[in-house]
Amino acid sequence: MQQLKTCKRKTMDDEFFTMYKDCVRELHKYDLRGKKIICPCDNKDSNIYKYLKHCYYDVKCDSKEWRKIDYSKYDIVITNPPFSQVREFIRYLVSIKIDFIIIVSDVLRYSIKNGKTNFGVPIYKGWDAQKFYRPDGNIKAVHCGWIASFQDDWNENILLNSKGDGK
Ligand SMILES: C[S@@+](CC[C@H](N)C(=O)[O-])C[C@H]1O[C@@H](n2cnc3c(N)ncnc32)[C@H](O)[C@@H]1O
Repeated sequence: MQQLKTCKRKTMDDEFFTMYKDCVRELHKYDLRGKKIICPCDNKDSNIYKYLKHCYYDVKCDSKEWRKIDYSKYDIVITNPPFSQVREFIRYLVSIKIDFIIIVSDVLRYSIKNGKTNFGVPIYKGWDAQKFYRPDGNIKAVHCGWIASFQDDWNENILLNSKGDGK
């Protein structure tokens, strides 16, 4: 019984929905025209998906199972992945060599900065995203922020890890 409760809490704790303003603040720095974008952890209610649609970008969403998506059809991944799977998610994207712009916890950004976590690619740090909607409509503060595997078009983001090459 105790185990069941723990599992349920873990599943629910991935449900933190990104605010529209946090999408605008970060994603406007990228010119994504001509790119095929996949939001693998988003449905049509997601503000990430909505913002990219409002920009008339070529974007698809699919919140069913990110592991089952055919990423060869896309140029870039943009999402707020489940916190409980984020390291596996990034390692997978790196292994298939697809670019990404995603939201992660500040703990992970700090770990990348300090060299404790290394995904083997350069990681750029974008704006913070510190408040998220919960399924019950409440807003919860969580220390998170954007990272990307490439430099934004405004050259605003800073390289978090020195080389992204394991050093
Ligand atoms: C941090 S939330 C972000 C939600 C939404 N994309 C947003 O930012 O508004 C992560 C989402 O990933 C979903 N998720 C969990 N496991 C998943 C999986 N294996 N494949 C795709 N989505 C998954 C969760 O249900 C949750 O809605």
